[in-house]
Amino acid sequence: MEIRTPRLILRSARPDDLEAMHAVLSDPRATRWWSTPPHETLDQTRAWLEGMIANGPNHPDFVIERDGRVIGKAGFYAMPDIGYILHPDAWGQGLATEAVGAAVDHVFATRDLDTLTADVDPENAASIRLLERLDFIRTGFAERTWNVGGVWKDSLYYALSRADRAVTVAGQAPA
Ligand SMILES: CC(C)(COP(=O)(O)OP(=O)(O)OC[C@H]1O[C@@H](n2cnc3c(N)ncnc32)[C@H](O)[C@@H]1OP(=O)(O)O)[C@@H](O)C(=O)NCCC(=O)NCCS
Repeated sequence: MEIRTPRLILRSARPDDLEAMHAVLSDPRATRWWSTPPHETLDQTRAWLEGMIANGPNHPDFVIERDGRVIGKAGFYAMPDIGYILHPDAWGQGLATEAVGAAVDHVFATRDLDTLTADVDPENAASIRLLERLDFIRTGFAERTWNVGGVWKDSLYYALSRADRAVTVAGQAPA
């Protein structure tokens, strides 16, 4: 499956995405607030990628390509929870907003589902800003939800309703 946005292609993962996704998942800047420590071996990333591929070609979880290069992933490893990570070289250009927005719109267009969710570290300012830009609403907070490499992390919970997203998309449409 493939989704095109102005600058990106979101598509199903393939085995040959291994090196590019390892570059993302082994980078400590990218995994600072991720659910696992940076990958140390290619085998760790291979297992991660195989999990993504095993969800099947119609599952809405995507690697992100820009100009033919894989720069990260966005989508729903487990519905209805959104997950996204980009290589730091790609940060700060609105690319995550573009990719995550497209993944969200795709799911609302193709699935009978009224609410999408997100679980974000309270210190992850970029991710919180991204979610709020896409009109996710904060729904809760919990302490010590993830143990990442021996360190307990907290969670802020967010949700986006189909109705709220529809208002946003309508508001962005050309007159
Ligand atoms: C979160 C992440 C995907 C954002 O990617 P990005 O392409 O840089 O995001 P965008 O450029 O689309 O920016 C989204 C918003 O966040 C803001 N933002 C970006 N980096 C920020 C930072 N370090 N601090 C505060 N705000 C930030 C942007 O200004 C933008 O808001 P605006 O449109 O109001 O200006 C990226 O930082 C990343 O891969 N982080 C590591 C993985 C991760 O933490 N994933 C989320 C797990 S829940």
